[in-house]
Amino acid sequence: MLLKKVTGTAGRVSGSFPVRFANTPCPPRSCCWSRSDGIFEVEIIMKIISSQKSVGDPGVVRSTDYYQTEYARQVVEKWDELIDWKARAASEGSFFIDALKERGVRRVLDVATGTGFHSVRLLEAGFDVTSADGNAEMLGKAFANGRQHGRLLRTVQADWRWLNRDVDDKFDAVICLGNSFPHLFSEHDRRKVLAEFYTVLRHDGIVLLDHRNYDLILNGGFRPNHAYYYCGDRVKVFPEHVDGGLARFCYQIPDEAPFYLNTFPLRKDYLTRLFKEVGFQKVTTCGHFYATYRDDEPDFFIHLAEKQYCESDALPDRAAA
Ligand SMILES: C[S@@+](CC[C@H](N)C(=O)[O-])C[C@H]1O[C@@H](n2cnc3c(N)ncnc32)[C@H](O)[C@@H]1O
Repeated sequence: MLLKKVTGTAGRVSGSFPVRFANTPCPPRSCCWSRSDGIFEVEIIMKIISSQKSVGDPGVVRSTDYYQTEYARQVVEKWDELIDWKARAASEGSFFIDALKERGVRRVLDVATGTGFHSVRLLEAGFDVTSADGNAEMLGKAFANGRQHGRLLRTVQADWRWLNRDVDDKFDAVICLGNSFPHLFSEHDRRKVLAEFYTVLRHDGIVLLDHRNYDLILNGGFRPNHAYYYCGDRVKVFPEHVDGGLARFCYQIPDEAPFYLNTFPLRKDYLTRLFKEVGFQKVTTCGHFYATYRDDEPDFFIHLAEKQYCESDALPDRAAA
């Protein structure tokens, strides 16, 4: 929701806010007050879904629902230039495909489908894929991209917090890639979502989940890198605001308005602990696509969390301790 105040006189509205109601997908709700000097004030409350008009106050964007505002059509249209499908496919190679095949995965739920990059790749590799995302604009673009690649995506609009309400099926693997999980801003939501992932998996299912190296970013060590993930070389990405509860990234494409994504700075070990507390007994972490790394080296971490029950890793009996 956006709230703007505009002042004007006798029927004409002036001010910096572009009042172009006819082009907005949601008609604004407005209220009008006349002032004694003949000037009126109109307060406009409108739900912007077609463009990322406002970056938002860093103090108030820390809400899990904010992704719906962020992935507006303007951002969705730019996303593929940002990630560059060809370069990204070359950079990650068959890492995810191999990880899934090695564990005998057949049915995959891509919970953060975005514009469809991994859904399409996995379909091409022969997996049975269901493509979910909470954002309808992203999912629509994914479907169109799928058609362009000669694939029909099976799409479900589902917010992760209520995944099992909207997806009534079981999978061998959940993938949540492209630094998507850090869109969750409260610990409660992170726990709930991991529990939803756990539930939607078969007894021996796995989760593949990645995120930026926020430990590095929190220590002031962000390095722009076009080698992995965001491979579009015209796009400049940098953190514009970082504190313990928010890392806001600015994405700049020459001659275009910048756009912003707000994320929670998820620390690697904290996430590993959450996975385990939710019930995943084994969590393996790679730095970029390598099993061995120094913590300050990779820009991204990839976690593989396994649901399968393993006796040896059983938690100690609290009563006995
Ligand atoms: C950074 S994009 C990544 C897209 C894609 N995986 C990629 O790598 O290109 C994050 C995606 O997660 C989705 N998302 C964020 N929070 C979500 C939530 N709570 N429930 C469902 N989808 C969510 C967004 O709509 C967006 O499509």
